[in-house]
Amino acid sequence: MSSIHVNLNAPSIQAGDSSAVSPHIPHMMSNENEAFSSTHRRNYMLSTHRRDGLIEWMKEMLMHSFVLDAKESYHGTMRFFEELIDEHRRNPEKSRLSQFVPSVGVFHTHLPLHHAFRIYDNKYSISLRRHIAPSFNEIRHILNLAQILAIGDTLKLISFDGDQTLYDDGGNFDANNDELALAIIRLLCHDVKVAVVTAAGYGWSGSKYEVRLKGLLSRMVDENMTKEQIENFYVFGGESNYLFQCTLLDSDVDTSHLSPFPKKEEESNIPIPTAPLAVTVPSSPVPGNANHHATSEKILRARLIPVPIAAWQADDLNGPKPYFWPEAEVRSLLDVAEGTMRQTVEDLRLRARIMRKERSVGCFPGGPDMVAKIPVGHGSNRLKREALDEMVLRVMEAIRVHEPPFQLPYCVFNGGTDAWLDIGNKRVAVAALQAFFRLPPEQCLHVGDQFLNIGNDLAARDASPCIWITSPRETGKVLQHVLRNKKIAPVSQDEGMVKRTLKEGDAAKLCVYTGEVV
Ligand code: IMP
Ligand code: MG
Repeated sequence: MSSIHVNLNAPSIQAGDSSAVSPHIPHMMSNENEAFSSTHRRNYMLSTHRRDGLIEWMKEMLMHSFVLDAKESYHGTMRFFEELIDEHRRNPEKSRLSQFVPSVGVFHTHLPLHHAFRIYDNKYSISLRRHIAPSFNEIRHILNLAQILAIGDTLKLISFDGDQTLYDDGGNFDANNDELALAIIRLLCHDVKVAVVTAAGYGWSGSKYEVRLKGLLSRMVDENMTKEQIENFYVFGGESNYLFQCTLLDSDVDTSHLSPFPKKEEESNIPIPTAPLAVTVPSSPVPGNANHHATSEKILRARLIPVPIAAWQADDLNGPKPYFWPEAEVRSLLDVAEGTMRQTVEDLRLRARIMRKERSVGCFPGGPDMVAKIPVGHGSNRLKREALDEMVLRVMEAIRVHEPPFQLPYCVFNGGTDAWLDIGNKRVAVAALQAFFRLPPEQCLHVGDQFLNIGNDLAARDASPCIWITSPRETGKVLQHVLRNKKIAPVSQDEGMVKRTLKEGDAAKLCVYTGEVV
């Protein structure tokens, strides 16, 4: 009979993530290999897969100032963090920080944590509290602020995750979110490249991504942005697989035939449709488009057009080239993930659907019909977080133990309502954008909500400084700091009430998993 290894160590683990056992706990389980060989084992790391090693450790280190009521010592501790991070940047393998926090990631810039703490403490008086110690979220905010201060006005590229960063999970960009929409528009108008880097993969169908971003795209037009300004906006779909550029086009232009692939001989003379800047061409109004002025002028819209592979994956660019990844390995990776997902659905009696796409495979709630098929089980409307986490960790394990080992970049994550394996990840996307725009990481920022090791923004940290937010509202707030540090006026509360034309209910609805219009 195979042995069962119970999670004896779990309650004592305070810091670290799945790759990191707490530095305060001796390295556990001498029978580790045995544990990994048993199909019945309990994974002792489960209790840490939703923790951030660095923030937990910082929180612990700040505790002495709180417990001893030594307010001034917060400042010294913050300076010490700065010093440790600088040392880690110089020598990541041998740094003291990597011993304290084995899971610690890359720092692309110096982090002025003491300065950030002074600003934050000045506003929120955390050092004056007697009963409540600095929290995880407060340390996250201070790290975010330090990162924004470090980049200051050198920012040239800002990438955003989609779900839960720009819009609610599974939702569309909220046209009423003035703070967020106007901040993004302001950055675009000041020549900052803005890219949405989302796992949501709907192939090369630009119009599907447009549905989710309509609140922002229509706002760009309402704010009279020029074509050049609008063209600073990009969308990366399917993690790092499908790159689109925004442009101004007549609303009746059909973009469905536009392809990023090299043109065949006979097609090469057909011009790509683009609307000349600020030129109005007589035309009849587009039916059903009542939110735009029904005049005799052409209606212009911000549309997403595939960026040619030959441009963003050109030979002379020093970035990743996902289009050229070997198809056999793509297929094999998807097979392993799909097989593991199907087994998990069966084992856990999940009323779930599994969908395989060209470069991803995912599992999501199966809908009411599944109740009859699986009378005892759950997931027709909502899959439990624990079940999704279990699925993600099983897929990660199946990939990790696969022989021969996989070489391709990939990402396995719990998206909140679903679980996915994607070919490629956000590190690849951000690195490809940096290569395309020829920018160093120090001039870039990635903003996202999923920085735990079962999240899909974590990978971006390898390539770019990151900001960790928890909601679209927080993204709007963070961007005001970004604007101020870029020396651009932040968005004031009474701005933007006049120009909005998109009304609630105007945007089409899309099944976020499959991309089907519903
Ligand atoms: P993100 O937070 O913007 O990266 O989007 C992640 C969400 O996109 C997932 O939770 C899914 O709901 C949705 N999604 C739709 N298609 C895909 C896909 O092919 N791979 C991964 N996520 C997808
Ligand atoms: Mg997200």
